[in-house]
Amino acid sequence: MHDFPAFDPFIRDCLQQEAFYRYADPLADVIINMANEGNGFPWHFDTNPFTITLAIQNADHGGAFEYAPNIRRQHENFGEVSKVLDEQSDRVISIDLEPGDLQLFLGRYSLHRVTPLKGKRPRYVAIFSYVDQPDMVGSPERARQLYGRVLPIHLERAGLRADTLAD
Ligand SMILES: [Fe+2]
Repeated sequence: MHDFPAFDPFIRDCLQQEAFYRYADPLADVIINMANEGNGFPWHFDTNPFTITLAIQNADHGGAFEYAPNIRRQHENFGEVSKVLDEQSDRVISIDLEPGDLQLFLGRYSLHRVTPLKGKRPRYVAIFSYVDQPDMVGSPERARQLYGRVLPIHLERAGLRADTLAD
């Protein structure tokens, strides 16, 4: 699907984004995430601006997608982020994604998580990542945290981001 010639232009048109590139990170450009009971994703921001997910299989229970839209933009907005982490925020939206749902999400600006999974059935989701600058990759720290390794390109591109947001 990702290599179907119309896929990238379709996503770009949906986002109405002129500057639009595939993530150049070899570990994170296209992945299938598999998660079992007790897992999910803790609250985080994405390194890349545009994240497209395709739900493949849900767990038996849990796995709601929760997000606080545009909670940071030009600055980190730690006060509002703290409220989300303390479960005191009224900005959090929760949605259930079903297999086949394609979600277009601005994860660099919207704090988000997947609530812990329950049951024996694993959750599968395909994740396609896009960016607004060519040759962009994740930081070495982020690559190590998420994928357990760092490639030469992470070191070569470290510190070259256009914005000053933390990962
Ligand atoms: Fe994310």
